[in-house]
Amino acid sequence: MFNRMHSSFVVFFVWFLFPRDHSLGSAENNFPQSGSNQILVAQCNGYCDELNNKIRSLEDTVKELQSRLENSKSQTNLGENLSDTCPSGSPSGMYQMKVPGVEPFQVTQCKSAAAGWTVIQRRLDGSVSFNQSWTNYKNGFGNERGEFFIGLQKLHLMTAEQPHDLFIQLKHFNGDTVYAHFDDFKVGSEKELYKLERLGQFSGTAGDSLKYHKDKKFSTFDNDNDDSRKNCAAEHGGGWWYHNCLSSSLNGLYFKEGETYTLNGIHWGNWKYYSFTFVQMMIRPKFF
Ligand SMILES: *[C@@H]1O[C@H](CO)[C@@H](O)[C@H](O)[C@H]1NC(C)=O
Ligand SMILES: *[C@@H]1O[C@H](CO)[C@@H](O)[C@H](O)[C@H]1NC(C)=O
Repeated sequence: MFNRMHSSFVVFFVWFLFPRDHSLGSAENNFPQSGSNQILVAQCNGYCDELNNKIRSLEDTVKELQSRLENSKSQTNLGENLSDTCPSGSPSGMYQMKVPGVEPFQVTQCKSAAAGWTVIQRRLDGSVSFNQSWTNYKNGFGNERGEFFIGLQKLHLMTAEQPHDLFIQLKHFNGDTVYAHFDDFKVGSEKELYKLERLGQFSGTAGDSLKYHKDKKFSTFDNDNDDSRKNCAAEHGGGWWYHNCLSSSLNGLYFKEGETYTLNGIHWGNWKYYSFTFVQMMIRPKFF
């Protein structure tokens, strides 16, 4: 084993011999402490200041890269590890939300380092029927701690006030999970029949089964605004931005073991032709 003096001297050579693009991670802890060593000064004949500065700047670069790596890790993990309520590392909590135009209301948020994701829709056990009327979709229904839909009027007011991201988590009966992220989600007013006005760019593992519904108005069994001769909402058992009729329908009927192969379940066609047993939709202001 080297003692401290020798190891500093060795590091000087190691640094010198290192290809510039080589990982410096393992050498980092051996970097000489400033002012710790006489022999190094003697050996490197006045180049030491320059070398120490270079080493310090390399240390800073390593730290910067490590912190960027941590950040990108926590962003990717957002979609990977689903618990039944929030992505791992972002515990949920209840908050009161104030949006001009409606009474203050309770929401669940998945906290994260940046800003909370507000849960706007959740399915997990089939305890709440989603085959609901226009008025109920407008005002919201269900149980905020279990299955619920937040309400189109709130969605409109929140997304009209400022741009929002939309994040959707899906889970198959066998445990597989995927996610879909849209970076500019906006819902029109009631006058516009709560149309899906904006979606932005898709990213994620689920495939994009929402773009087919962009610019489409919302429909419920008692307010049919779709592009089909049929009443898509009545047929598929839940309100959605139906077209002719669907590529996705996350408010469809609940099948406890995901057993339906037709399109009347909780459907996201780009992933699998099953009914999903867990869905959660969340939004977050884009700029905070
Ligand atoms: C996510 O789950 C995988 C596999 O279950 C695990 O290896 C990984 O450590 C988890 N990540 C986090 C951030 O919990
Ligand atoms: C949804 O409810 C409406 C009105 O009660 C009904 O006509 C329709 O058949 C229901 N849809 C499904 C798929 O159960």
